[in-house]
Formats: sequence, C-alpha cells, structure tokens
Amino acid sequence: MIPTISGVFLTVSLMKISVVGGGYVGLVTAACFAELGHEVSIIDRGAAKVNAINAKKPPIYEEGLEELLQHHVGMRLRASTSYDSVPFSDLTFICVGTPPNPDGSADLSKMKAASRSIGSVLKNSSNYHVVVVKSTVPPGTTENIVVPTVLQKSGKSDDTIGFAMNPEFLREGRAIADFMHPDRIVIGSRNLRDGDRVAEAYKGISAPILSTGLPAAEMIKYASNAFLATKISFSNEMGNICKKLGIDVYEVMRGAGMDKRIGPYFLDAGAGFGGSCFPKDVHALIKLAETVGEDPILLRSVIDVNEKQPGRIVQLLKARIGDLKGKRIAVLGLAFKDNTDDIRESRSIPVIEELLKSGAVIAAYDPMANSSMQKIYPSLTYCSTAADALRGAEGCLVMTEWPEFKNIEKEFDLMANRLIIEGRRILSCKGAEGICW
Ligand code: UDX
Repeated sequence: MIPTISGVFLTVSLMKISVVGGGYVGLVTAACFAELGHEVSIIDRGAAKVNAINAKKPPIYEEGLEELLQHHVGMRLRASTSYDSVPFSDLTFICVGTPPNPDGSADLSKMKAASRSIGSVLKNSSNYHVVVVKSTVPPGTTENIVVPTVLQKSGKSDDTIGFAMNPEFLREGRAIADFMHPDRIVIGSRNLRDGDRVAEAYKGISAPILSTGLPAAEMIKYASNAFLATKISFSNEMGNICKKLGIDVYEVMRGAGMDKRIGPYFLDAGAGFGGSCFPKDVHALIKLAETVGEDPILLRSVIDVNEKQPGRIVQLLKARIGDLKGKRIAVLGLAFKDNTDDIRESRSIPVIEELLKSGAVIAAYDPMANSSMQKIYPSLTYCSTAADALRGAEGCLVMTEWPEFKNIEKEFDLMANRLIIEGRRILSCKGAEGICW
C-alpha cells in the first residue's frame, strides 16, 4: 500500500514513466505523475540537479514541490543522468527547454538531442513505448523532427514506438495545482492507440481530454498563450485610454468580463506581461507567421503595447516629481509576478533601466527575487523590507502583485515624498496612482 500526499492509498504503481528534462516543467510533471501513483524516472544531463532531486531538494522554487519530492523520492520517483529507464518505461515525456533563438524562433537543439538519445536506447527494447512531447514546440516539430529521429536511431518502425504531443499550461507559482486540476488535457497523436496510452497516465485527474492531431496540439499551446497575452495588452491599452478619460479600467474590464464570451480572467491592466512563456511564445508565433508568408499584425501589436507599457510608469513619475537625478526611488516588486523568484522578462527590468538612465538611486524590495535581480544589477540597494526601501524615498513604484503589499500602509509615511504609483493594482492604501488607472 503506497501513501500519497492527497491521502489516497495506492496498491500498485500504475505506469512506468520517464521524463527527460529536470527543469521547471519536467520536475513538476514528474513529481505530479508520482503523486498519481506512477513510477517515475527523471533524466537530466545536470549531475548537480540530479543529486539535488535525489536528495529531495528541489533545484527551483515552486510551491508544494518540496513536499512532493520529500514524499516520493526513493519510493516512486528518482533522478538520473542516464537514459537507462527509458526501455523499461511505458511512456517517455520530453520536457526539455526550447529557448528563443536570436531571431525569436524556437531553439530545438535540446529536443533533437533528447530524440536521438531516446531512439538510441529504444534499440534494445521490445515492449510498446510512446514518446510524448510536452515542451512548447512549433507545429510540425513532433512529426518532422522527433518521429524520424527516434525511429532512425532505434532502427524501429512506428508500430512498436508511438508518438504524442501533450502540451502543459502550468503557471509558475501555481504549477502543481494547475497540473492536478487542469481546464483540459490536450493529447495530440497520430492514432487512438498512442493517444489512449497517454490518457491513461492522467487517470485520477478529472478534466476533459481533447484528442487531436500532433500539429494542432502544438499550436493549441501557442494560441492559448498568445491569446492570454493579447487579453493583457488589450486591457493595458484600454487602461491607457481610460486614464486619460478619468475612468477606472478595472471597473470597465470587470463589466466587459461579465460577458461569458470574454470571461473575467487575465484582464488585469498594469505594467504588462513578463515571464519565460508569454513573450517567448508570442515572438515565436510572429516568427512562424513570417516564415509562412503571413503578416502577424495583431501579434506584433501585442508585443509593442507590452514593450511600451513599463516606460509609462517612469514618465508618470517624472511628470509628478520632475528630474530624477540623485533622487531615491523605491521599487517594490522585482519578480515577473508574485509567488516566484523568477525575473525573466519581468516588467521591472525596463523600469530599472529607465530609472538608472535618469540618474535615480534605486532602493529595491522583493519578498523572493532580490538575489535574482542582484545578479543583473549588483549596484542597486536591496532591502529586506518594504519599509527599508521606502525610508526617505521621493517616489515609490509597485511592480509586482505580491499579496503582502496589500498590508503596506504606515510604511509609506517613511517616504520623504509620499508619491506612490502602482504598476500592479495591489495596494489597499489611499492616495496611490495607477500606471493606467
Ligand atoms: C503562463 C500561462 O499562464 C501558463 O498557462 C503557461 O503554461 C505558461 O505561461 P506564467 O508565465 O507562469 O504562465 O504566468 P502568468 O500567471 O500567466 O502571468 C504572466 C504575466 O502576465 C505576469 O507578468 C503577470 O503579472 C501578467 N498578468 C497576468 C497581467 O498583467 N494581467 C493579468 O490579468 C494576468
């Protein structure tokens, strides 16, 4: 009898699953599959990461992940640098990074390397096996790169090796909940047999399964992220207009969002979207459109609005207090959003750049991301509390939606000049102005 964190006792391990790539998506995917009762092996080239996982120490911060590792590592979850587990597995999920190339297209080098390694070790396997792409990849990647590479390397035909594409929609900081309670599970495959095999792995999760083809599954990921990014840029543009008219964009978008065709989510106006996904995926989609001779006017505008938005908060600051040279400015929030130490594409970065160019003295505070930002901007003053950052400041910019910022009130009295501008609508104190409200 095998206990799970959710208290369910499982009698047997359900499937044997290998996960290639111990990064953010791979680690969360592997830990959650172990929680669902499967026997899971993580494969990663990084020995340090592998050792950390086997020591039950998550190499990245994600809420709830450490508990899952504590619970399952050594029981149903293990990590290794070798692909030995693959021939004995039912499924192998490829969760390697697909970072952007300089031109914005997706870099598939790790995807190709993983496909070669998987193909090589499947040479000796006799049982039916399905290779599942979970990384975000341009449409056609599974069909035109993964399938031929694995079959060529294994010397096998596709009646013993199946292929599928199963995108993830995990949000940083909420990834485990998103995995366990998804809105849908998308499974792209070339035949029902392969698709059904993947669906089996999600036993225990109640969500609709959308079965489709490989390229459509790949494109569903891009379309989902690009549309969410579009909602945000639309709300920001509405915010910029509403502010000029003295109308509260949050009231406006709440009204609009009550229309079921629009929906209430991802309409929070502010400094724009950041993170390792939205900017990367919208750029990759723009590149993809251009390669097929399409002019992605809308998608380009989504990026344009997003890139211009952070600058507005510094313009507003200058409009309120004039020249920033030598003035202490408190920046509350560095992470691209709350509940993560991740600063990738954070909107606070262009703001910091602007402030430094204007000669301001920055006092920064973030509950988790100070050390991440210190790697890029060592010269800023990093504070361990919001109060320290605010003390003697001529202005304050709020750049991340940390819930703890709701409680800041008397600390603002420590400022030399009580000018507060929100890039994220999070404060409950009076007298703050919004970047676009
Ligand atoms: C996103 C997608 O949500 C997820 O499904 C996908 O798998 C990966 O990319 P993530 O990057 O973790 O997840 O962040 P998300 O919570 O989506 O926020 C993205 C950015 O948009 C953040 O900078 C956030 O501050 C901003 N945002 C979000 C807004 O500005 N307004 C909103 O209403 C929502």
